[in-house]
Amino acid sequence: MIILIWAMDTNFLIGKDNKLPWRYKEDLKYFKATVENKTVLMGDMTYLSLKGYYKDKPLPYGKIYVASKNNDFKDSNVTIIDNLEYFLKNTKEDIYVIGGRTIYQVALPYADRLYITHILKRHEGNIYFPKFDLNQYKVIQKRYSAELIFSIYEKKD
Ligand SMILES: NC(=O)c1ccc[n+]([C@@H]2O[C@H](COP(=O)([O-])OP(=O)(O)OC[C@H]3O[C@@H](n4cnc5c(N)ncnc54)[C@H](OP(=O)(O)O)[C@@H]3O)[C@@H](O)[C@H]2O)c1
Repeated sequence: MIILIWAMDTNFLIGKDNKLPWRYKEDLKYFKATVENKTVLMGDMTYLSLKGYYKDKPLPYGKIYVASKNNDFKDSNVTIIDNLEYFLKNTKEDIYVIGGRTIYQVALPYADRLYITHILKRHEGNIYFPKFDLNQYKVIQKRYSAELIFSIYEKKD
């Protein structure tokens, strides 16, 4: 199963200069609890961004796939995916796709579930989730907090 997980504001904003445009402790906690020890897939930009947050500490995931077509990207802690479409089409694993924009765009057609944290206001930034039709998905879980909605969607048949 392919699961996409991200947080976005009301304008679909997800990033600012290769970082998150905000800091919501509750969302960081939710994200960590959801993907801890799970198999994750991300782009090399998001990987570098996360390494910046974790510094020398290991990332708290299980198997890590990093999408990169650049032969210079090497890291012994991860499995590099250079043909992302082929990988997504053929994998039988449960994989959490954790960003960023480019990787979400390629992975969205393969997604069975979406974990979206809706941030109920506008922030400043420069990277947006690609526009798509959320009506193709049905809500299977929704939890409200003061500034956020934690939603899980499943693809309609
Ligand atoms: N709000 C959220 O929930 C959230 C979550 C994650 C990330 N973000 C934000 O998103 C931003 C990063 O997004 P981004 O789009 O710039 O970077 P990204 O998706 O993390 O990585 C893009 C890289 O993926 C590789 N790639 C692209 N297409 C590929 C393909 N078809 N096959 C294999 N590899 C491929 C390329 O690497 P090569 O150049 O090496 O080929 C490309 O540079 C940051 O601001 C980050 O903070 C937000």
